[in-house]
Amino acid sequence: MRPIKVGLLGMGTVGTGVVRIVEGHQEDLSSQVGSPIQISKILVKDLAKQRHLHVNSEVMTENPWDVIYDPDIDVIVEVMGGIEPTKGYIIEALDRGKHIVTANKDLMALHGVEIMEKAKANQCDVYYEASVAGGIPIIRTLMEGFSSDRITKIMGIVNGTTNYILTKMSQEGAAYEDVLKEAQALGYAESDPTSDVEGLDAARKMAILATLGFHANVALEDVSVRGISNVSKQDILYAKRLGYEMKLLGIAERQDDQISVVVQPTMVKSSHPLSSVNGVFNAVYVYGEAVGETMFYGPGAGEMPTATSVVADLVAVIRNMRLGVTGQQAHHAYKEKKLKTDDQ
Ligand code: NAP
Ligand code: HSE
Repeated sequence: MRPIKVGLLGMGTVGTGVVRIVEGHQEDLSSQVGSPIQISKILVKDLAKQRHLHVNSEVMTENPWDVIYDPDIDVIVEVMGGIEPTKGYIIEALDRGKHIVTANKDLMALHGVEIMEKAKANQCDVYYEASVAGGIPIIRTLMEGFSSDRITKIMGIVNGTTNYILTKMSQEGAAYEDVLKEAQALGYAESDPTSDVEGLDAARKMAILATLGFHANVALEDVSVRGISNVSKQDILYAKRLGYEMKLLGIAERQDDQISVVVQPTMVKSSHPLSSVNGVFNAVYVYGEAVGETMFYGPGAGEMPTATSVVADLVAVIRNMRLGVTGQQAHHAYKEKKLKTDDQ
């Protein structure tokens, strides 16, 4: 069978991991989807930049339309981040019948409805597992694993950078600015780390999780947000002395038709499993009326864990193409908007 051709938008931390997995696991991947997977074009901002991974220079381009208008490309993997010009590229690609895999929570939290509508209209798939909690397959779990249940609470540590910072401050007494720099060097932080430390990245992720878990369109402005930039070493040590760990928690709850979503630094009792989620690890606690308590744990950021989720989405899209069922996944989420309570 002819190779499935993939256009990659971005080859930074996550994009590099995607190329490594597609190349390194090619045999397994092609046996799962019934044909080779070929990354045939890669968009970057600066062709002259030194890369950690060598790829054929003919594949690389600075011109987005080389990728989006390429009629041979079946799937676009978007790992460049940001809202514009990214959203415009995705809309153009969907209009050309290309399926999308993205790790972009900013885009999905702000424009998920529009993108899904466009996908539906063009019978295309849009998968975004890597947008929340890096290597933990939490989106699939909420959409498929819990489709039979009524979820009433989703609570978690969903930002790796801030958890890395809080852990190092708590365990090693490290300085906030030093650990933030480390998290940036390790590829965990966003290009503008303000969205990590001010809680916006976690808020976007919680909006996505609440939307999927509660079958309601929870908008970003419905999330009440406070980050960790004002949390001092003293706060953390004081909490520790009282038997608590300081964590940036996202908490989404629903009662009847009322939804509330908050992101804030929270003192978590040391006996609670979330208190021992350390470093770049994330964890998402989900309570369903039928299933009761469940918790999902794993690396929340970084090259290879995030790329694992991206490539798993790619496999899912190609399987849907083979089965002739693309475009159906877009019907799952983004229903009528319901408002949260404002009494937090
Ligand atoms: P990154 O390291 O900054 O890489 C971004 C890539 O996109 C770079 O290759 C850059 O090109 C390219 N790019 C950016 N803007 C561009 C533009 N206007 N035109 C063409 N190319 C452009 O970012 P990342 O950490 O891989 O993150 C990518 C996405 O994944 C973001 O949405 C992020 O939120 C999400 N994500 C990241 C992680 C993580 O752990 N890093 C985890 C989950 C999700 P150059 O290389 O030439 O600069
Ligand atoms: N900056 C994000 C984080 C990347 O630290 O969690 C993963 O989404």
